[in-house]
Amino acid sequence: MTEPSRLTAGSFAGASATARSASSRGLWSSRWVFFLAATGSAVGLGNIWKFPYITGANGGGAFVLVYIACILTIGIPLLMAEVMIGRRGRQNPAGAMGRLAREAGASPHWRKVGWLGAFTGFLILGFYLVVAGWALAYVPTALSGAFSGVDGQASGALFEGLLADPGRLALYGLAVLAATLLIVGLGVRDGLERALRLLMPGLFVLLLGLVGYAAVAGDFAAALRFLFVPDFSQLSAKGVLLALGHAFFTLSLGCGAMMAYGSYLPEGTSIARTSLLVALADTVVALLAGLAIFPLVFANGLEPGAGPGLIFVTLPIAFGQMPLGQLVGGLFFVMLVLAAVTSTISLSEPGIAWLTERFGIRRGRAVLLTGSLLALLGTACLLSFNHWAEYQLFGRTVFDTMDYLTANWLMPLGGLGTVLFTGWVLRRELVHEAVGIGRPGWFSLWWNLLRYGTPVAIVLVFLNLIGLV
Ligand code: TRP
Repeated sequence: MTEPSRLTAGSFAGASATARSASSRGLWSSRWVFFLAATGSAVGLGNIWKFPYITGANGGGAFVLVYIACILTIGIPLLMAEVMIGRRGRQNPAGAMGRLAREAGASPHWRKVGWLGAFTGFLILGFYLVVAGWALAYVPTALSGAFSGVDGQASGALFEGLLADPGRLALYGLAVLAATLLIVGLGVRDGLERALRLLMPGLFVLLLGLVGYAAVAGDFAAALRFLFVPDFSQLSAKGVLLALGHAFFTLSLGCGAMMAYGSYLPEGTSIARTSLLVALADTVVALLAGLAIFPLVFANGLEPGAGPGLIFVTLPIAFGQMPLGQLVGGLFFVMLVLAAVTSTISLSEPGIAWLTERFGIRRGRAVLLTGSLLALLGTACLLSFNHWAEYQLFGRTVFDTMDYLTANWLMPLGGLGTVLFTGWVLRRELVHEAVGIGRPGWFSLWWNLLRYGTPVAIVLVFLNLIGLV
């Protein structure tokens, strides 16, 4: 054992490559740090970039309602299961599931769910880094005053200009990748912890401010109607699927990320309470993002269903009009990048922890290997917007394919594996003890959701995708 008396969050990043026992891997220094890290993972581009644009493209209120229902009935139970498996298994996701399967006398093949997760995280990173690069590219753009006085059309042209420039996209995307690898490689203790303490409250305050601005300068009533008055005629089966996929995405589920974080969680912390808080914070941030953006969309005659560029076209109009907009805009995009980086860290952690713990590869090497492959995948994704725009698989560019495959297939598949494993392979008493839900009624509710509700919902998704339902 190495220094059992100094177990802190940071030691996980620097943990020796061959360290296998639970105690030498290190733990988060407190429950609060786990909450911050998990919230940092959950809150990211999914909330501020993706949620508004898919809500806009799927008709608003009804979509939001289904999304919230998915968070409550599938997301939160699965989040708890992931954290529980991680804490109980005290290893990377594949290792943890393998260990628990062995203990339960089940097939070791369950660890493949962990592999699938690490692979899914890798594919997500491919397109996620590109979008994070958009945000970073917009920091100097905002500070330079390029947004001042732009209307919808001029703002759209600025964004199109960025997409058409592969060199700029690569520069900024790689910068985000480098920042991620640096943090993951060097040790997370001070960096992540300190950044999160400032970042999370900062992002929250800034978003609130933007909502305030949008309420005054935009069409707030139209936005409220759009977001909260459901019109089910606007919602398609595809929209329901998207809402479910997004519930996975926004809570960082189905890839083992929360398992990896759970594996550093001290005993005695309530998994249920922490998970609820993480989900609440995540949902609040997404709704705030919607409330900041849609008033401006409606006031400026923009199209809510405009697609992935929505926030990058809408918000600059506001920054270009408000007092101190250059500064506020620059700050906003800095925060967005930081929020994205706390998510990319968690996306790469399962794969990197697996490489180091399974093969004894040194952490630095695992990081470089993963990073090189990611640079290639990311490049393929960013070329989707310019040179490779015509190359399509099944009518989708590489970028869209990564998004579609992960959100619709791979994350739900990883989630299905996880709930079946928890609900049907592990013993009820073990799970009850490990998850630490005291009240029997609540435990039964969760247990039954996991055993029946969640698997059925996910299977329905798959049946729908192949056109059977
Ligand atoms: N939840 C993050 C977001 O909303 C994205 C993310 C981070 C993620 N880690 C993940 C998605 C793991 C799936 C799995 O931006």
